[in-house]
Amino acid sequence: MRALYVVGNWKSNKTIQEAIAWWNAFGALVSGDKKIASEAKKRHLIIVLCAPYTVLPALKENIESIGFPIALGAQDVSPFPEGAYTGEVSARMVKELADYVIVGHSERRRYFQETDSELEFETLHAQSVGLATIYCVEGEKNSIPGSATVVAYEPPSAIGKGQAEDVGKAGTVCAGIGRSTHKPVLYGGSVTPDNVASFLGHPAIDGVLLGGSSLDPSVFFTIIRVASSIP
Ligand code: PGA
Repeated sequence: MRALYVVGNWKSNKTIQEAIAWWNAFGALVSGDKKIASEAKKRHLIIVLCAPYTVLPALKENIESIGFPIALGAQDVSPFPEGAYTGEVSARMVKELADYVIVGHSERRRYFQETDSELEFETLHAQSVGLATIYCVEGEKNSIPGSATVVAYEPPSAIGKGQAEDVGKAGTVCAGIGRSTHKPVLYGGSVTPDNVASFLGHPAIDGVLLGGSSLDPSVFFTIIRVASSIP
């Protein structure tokens, strides 16, 4: 059975206090459902929460308390090594707090002008310290570094719009990316509890990347429930 990824991306949301409140609410939902941990394991779900750097220490400190397999991720990493790069957070620093990092999200490309060559360096530094990368692309035309771990296809027209891409169309793009990279391919863009089963049920889609649907712990939990029941 192939693994399925459920990855949350909080983007630039949540103070430390809000992050802890989310974590406690999510923990209560998980512990209130006696079967979810074993069902998620049986379904080979890989659950990752990508949070702002500022809240990662608090989440990591409480990761054991949740009693559920959820990994932490960052949303960006420096294309530079450690050194005189004011404001940057290096891969080694991220690795202290997280096991995953999103690289090349379309918002990073659009608002921060991140280029393919910078993204390649980000991916290489992440790989060199053992961070798994979730490499985002907007379509098959984007280049994908060989060292990326997982690819996420996120059409900008569907991100945060409340209107996901047609599953057949998304599946065709994911299949093409999968054929050329031999990596797991996720879909992201307005995934909700109502449409998640159709994406995860597609044979070429190995998981989902959730923005808005990760902000509310009960919505995120519902999506994990649906994912754990995908045949
Ligand atoms: P969305 O965002 O789920 O809010 O559309 C997805 C993403 O940008 O990762």
